[in-house]
Amino acid sequence: TAKPIIFSGMQPSSDSLHLGNYIGALKQWTQMQEDFDAFFCVVNLHAITVPQDPKELAERTRRTAAQYIAAGIDPEKSTLFIQSHVPAHAELAWVLNTLTGFGEASRMTQFKDKSQRFGSDSTSVGLFTYPILMAADILLYQAASVPVGEDQRQHVELTRDIANRFNTRFGETFVVPEATIPKSAAKIYDLQDPTSKMSKSADTEAGLIKVLDPANVTKKKIMRAVTDADGEIRFDREAKPGVSNLLGIYSVLTGRDIPSLEAEYAGRGYGDLKKGLAEVVEETFGPIRERTEELLSDRGELDRLLAGAAERANEVASRTLDTVYDRIGL
Ligand code: ADP
Ligand code: NA
Repeated sequence: TAKPIIFSGMQPSSDSLHLGNYIGALKQWTQMQEDFDAFFCVVNLHAITVPQDPKELAERTRRTAAQYIAAGIDPEKSTLFIQSHVPAHAELAWVLNTLTGFGEASRMTQFKDKSQRFGSDSTSVGLFTYPILMAADILLYQAASVPVGEDQRQHVELTRDIANRFNTRFGETFVVPEATIPKSAAKIYDLQDPTSKMSKSADTEAGLIKVLDPANVTKKKIMRAVTDADGEIRFDREAKPGVSNLLGIYSVLTGRDIPSLEAEYAGRGYGDLKKGLAEVVEETFGPIRERTEELLSDRGELDRLLAGAAERANEVASRTLDTVYDRIGL
């Protein structure tokens, strides 16, 4: 019997993924690929909704794909592809644009946040219709579920509304997807500002643990992480956000529970905890970094993997698009 289909993606918008991306998305994906028919996409069409340097975008797209594989996405099990290799994404997005209300799109909070940051003159219409392209991404593969972070819930809701609208108007065509927001996809906080989530859009990189950074750079950042003055290694998100973030990361990377970590570090200093954490992070990211470099050094092999995946994605996506065109009389 066919496995249920999932779709998820990330933008190639920095030179390295960060620890939040790894724990919140990538690690979940690697665990899901056994039980699902998974489509994992590097969404470069989404990335150009804000200005990008062309050379850098191309490079980051490859690096992002390489990091997916290096972190454990198996190209034999999952379809790992680049969004722009599958023309149906842009084509279906156009159709869905014509079925989405202006007011409905205007209610998307991520657009409101981002457009406020850029100002209306440098905000593109593409940024406004971003969630509609995301709807196309998901619906093309008839995905039953979409593993995403909490911040994407509203976009998946919009996708459901558009799918239902299309199905009602033109006949059953799309599977109506659910957002799956895994509990284990713990939220990771900035090392310097441990009440804000770790994000590539932070003002400085001092609080950002990057998958591809050398071990000594990561260690330095962890050793300088903000903690507190009471000196006790104890998990308390409210009173001790910095220490709790370190413990949370430690726990999720090792699979050990918080009480056992508190017990291990009882009576010891923050420096010990940080040293221990730096080792744990390196145990996870060291091999990923090496494998990423290997993959990037053999352009032919990575391109071959991505081309094969694009072929499979194209097959599925164009089948859906054909049906859509047929239904609406194109
Ligand atoms: P960023 O916030 O750095 O721009 P993205 O929005 O590109 O990250 O997120 C890509 C994926 O990584 C999403 O699935 C998102 O939920 C997850 N993610 C990003 N930051 C974190 C974080 N700090 N903790 C947990 N998951 C995160
Ligand atoms: Na984001």
